Amino acid sequence: MSLLFSPIQLGGLRLRNRIAVSPMCQYSAVDGAAQPWHWQHLGSLALSGAGVVITEATSVASEGRISPPDLGLWSDEHQALLTSLIEDVHSYCDTPFGVQLAHAGRKASTARPWDGVGAVAPANGGWTPVGPTDEPFDETYPLPAALDLEGITRIRAAFVKAAERADACGFDLVELHGAHGYLLHEFYSPLSNHRADDYGGSFENRVRFALEIARDVRAVWPRSKALGMRITGSDWTEGGWTPEDAVRLAALLKAEGLDYVCVTSGGVAPKIRIPGSEPGYQVPFAAKVKAETGIPTMSVGMIVTAHQAEEILASGKADMVALARAMLDDPRWALHAAAALGDEAAYPPQYERAAAKYWPGYSRARSGD
Ligand SMILES: Cc1cc2nc3c(=O)[nH]c(=O)nc-3n(C[C@H](O)[C@H](O)[C@H](O)COP(=O)(O)O)c2cc1C
Repeated sequence: MSLLFSPIQLGGLRLRNRIAVSPMCQYSAVDGAAQPWHWQHLGSLALSGAGVVITEATSVASEGRISPPDLGLWSDEHQALLTSLIEDVHSYCDTPFGVQLAHAGRKASTARPWDGVGAVAPANGGWTPVGPTDEPFDETYPLPAALDLEGITRIRAAFVKAAERADACGFDLVELHGAHGYLLHEFYSPLSNHRADDYGGSFENRVRFALEIARDVRAVWPRSKALGMRITGSDWTEGGWTPEDAVRLAALLKAEGLDYVCVTSGGVAPKIRIPGSEPGYQVPFAAKVKAETGIPTMSVGMIVTAHQAEEILASGKADMVALARAMLDDPRWALHAAAALGDEAAYPPQYERAAAKYWPGYSRARSGD
């Protein structure tokens, strides 16, 4: 059996394999509420064969959405819709769902990709975002309001409330979004945090907010489920967050009782070159965090083929892989990966006649000839 298709335990959650569908914003919600698009998107990915499907960045507060049509989990209506979505999907398949709880900080109130770039003005449904200071991401982004202690406390409470709602919805995993230049990353990166209080300056002060949220959510999220954080391996520039910082943060998160980290990179400041088209370009960050902390670690970013994913795990560089674009490209990715690695894949019975062992056309379909 391949490592990719061997089970893994994340805290109290046992996954049938080591493949996660990575969070992907769909920009298709209405006032934070899930729509028919989310039923087809998450339902289709639940049939991918992955061990867990993690929702898009799901905001814990209205002002924490990246774009007005982002998904949210701050109201009873949001909770009821996501509860029925999970119930519906689980009526035909048992793939567990995770939710990525997020707050976009100073990168909030921006246009969804197909509506242009930059700030959405209040007249068009935008708002004043919050950040560690009043410095914007760049000149096209909205001017944020600097968070005071009351605001920090309010956001901590919003993460806790959203986690409680996620549990009630039937999610089995919470991933706290601590990367890509959103609020938690904005606090811990020296590039975006120029505060002079207990939340700025030293490494200990900059990671304080992320650790507080991890601790708060750990206190309410069941041990029988999984809790992790997506963190940054590097800001990719002089004076920014480093792989060594990521190791220190991951060790602190492990001490707080988190069950895993997913190591990604970039996004906290503009005009920084990232080698984002190179296969597995973020794997070295995951490998370092895993080797130096021992916390179960997911790698993400330009992981495309089954053999590439298997090699990452077999060489001990990560415990799991998360895939985003490869899953959009092929929403049966993990079923096909199992066949490529000689493993059994759990096809839904309705689709079984398209499996390699029943369909003579299977290998031609994969080779593209
Ligand atoms: C359409 C799309 C939406 C994304 N939205 C999110 C998101 O909500 N949260 C997040 O942490 N990353 C998000 N990402 C980043 C992916 O989760 C992933 O880290 C990145 O695409 C690299 O992985 P890949 O090479 O497998 O696509 C998004 C990526 C795509 C393509």
